[in-house]
Amino acid sequence: MELDGFESLARARRSVRKFRPDPLPEGLLERMLDAARWAPSGYNLQPTHFYIVEDPQLKPALQVACMSQRQITEAPATVIFLGDRRAAANNFRDMLRTEEAAGVLHPKYRASLEKYVPLAFGTGPLGLGWLWKAALPPMRRLALPTPELPAIHRRFWLAKQVSLSAMVFMLAAAAAGLGTCPMEGFDEARVKKVLGIPPWMLVVMVMPLGYSADGPLKRSRLPLQGFVHHDRW
Ligand SMILES: Cc1cc2nc3c(=O)[nH]c(=O)nc-3n(C[C@H](O)[C@H](O)[C@H](O)COP(=O)(O)O)c2cc1C
Repeated sequence: MELDGFESLARARRSVRKFRPDPLPEGLLERMLDAARWAPSGYNLQPTHFYIVEDPQLKPALQVACMSQRQITEAPATVIFLGDRRAAANNFRDMLRTEEAAGVLHPKYRASLEKYVPLAFGTGPLGLGWLWKAALPPMRRLALPTPELPAIHRRFWLAKQVSLSAMVFMLAAAAAGLGTCPMEGFDEARVKKVLGIPPWMLVVMVMPLGYSADGPLKRSRLPLQGFVHHDRW
């Protein structure tokens, strides 16, 4: 795609809050989810899960858990973007296998991943490793550049990864002529209860989608120049 086309797509995507009841064409949602899976993730650990809600019986309770926002019951489908707190344990080995099969895993990189991923994500038996992982980086940082460890900042780490998938999904939907509404207005515990989502999953975003019944939607953005910091702050 040309940059011109991409710019128009990025500008045309709007948060839609009124939906037509028309169902989604067969197979379209799967294509968009597959596009979203090509979003990048730290160490390629791919922690994003997608929970699709189409059952009309589930929607009223989900709507209540989402601060009664009406787009939940209006939209033909809602995708819940989830982050797997156990992504390192669940996906690391499979990821290495698929990367190896694709011939893209350099042995040196593999060796560094094997060392770093358990260190960055593991919390040890009964979570006891968490304590020293919380205490050590601030001390090490006094002498050496030291990143935040996902083992300690797991919600933040997951929110980054899952949001990237959600953005790709929204652009794919816009390209397919569908409207989406990213939502953070929800009660996480209630959403999980209504949908039976396991405790190790973090709910990052709730996203109704369908054909828009909103008129032409216009938004504004603050001028770019106030947000660009070139070579110095
Ligand atoms: C993380 C996030 C959470 C949001 N939560 C809600 C929400 O709960 N309900 C809602 O109606 N809109 C929500 N929005 C939509 C924003 O209001 C909207 O993106 C913003 O006003 C800009 O409009 P646009 O998306 O049409 O460009 C959310 C957007 C983002 C990115």
